[in-house]
Amino acid sequence: MQLPNSQILISESDLQNRITSLAHEINQHYAQNAELIVVSVLKGSVFFMTDLCKQLQLDVEIGFLFLSSYQGKMSPQTKVQLFDLPLPDLKNRNLLIIEDIYDSGASLKYAYELCLAFQPASIKTCVLLAKQGKKNQAQVPLDYVGFHIPNHFVVGYGLDYQEKYRQLPYIAVLDNGSDE
Ligand code: IMP
Ligand code: MG
Repeated sequence: MQLPNSQILISESDLQNRITSLAHEINQHYAQNAELIVVSVLKGSVFFMTDLCKQLQLDVEIGFLFLSSYQGKMSPQTKVQLFDLPLPDLKNRNLLIIEDIYDSGASLKYAYELCLAFQPASIKTCVLLAKQGKKNQAQVPLDYVGFHIPNHFVVGYGLDYQEKYRQLPYIAVLDNGSDE
């Protein structure tokens, strides 16, 4: 597939190498074979979550949260919308929230606070990408970050522009300027 006006920011091999090292860090943090509930924020984090989980030597259970804040545009909307999906029982369990990107931070903060209300034993966050140089990003713990990236609109490896380009195995910049 050809992407108009785009450039590769993170290659497939760089993505996979970094995911291997993130999985290693996560494996080190929890006791061997500890139970971990992975909460994947749909749709963007699915590719990242599956590649990461394949390398976790833990007793993993997977749940999903379906949040939406962009609705096909390149500028974030401050309101985060939740579409109901059944989650595993989170009380007294170890949670790892997986998000594709920390942009305004509104989605991750929403997911974090929602999960916290279920009184988990522990809660950590893992984002593939964190945008730098943005104003007023929501304050939420970022425990595991794949890559810090400049403030550009990116697609691929789960991230979309108007629901397209998610299947690209790499991350590409779609625009040539800041998305603010
Ligand atoms: P937030 O602004 O941090 O709440 O990000 C909300 C959601 O917008 C993320 O989970 C992504 O799905 C999407 N998003 C944010 N930045 C980008 C981008 O550069 N490309 C594609 N999707 C993005
Ligand atoms: Mg998302």
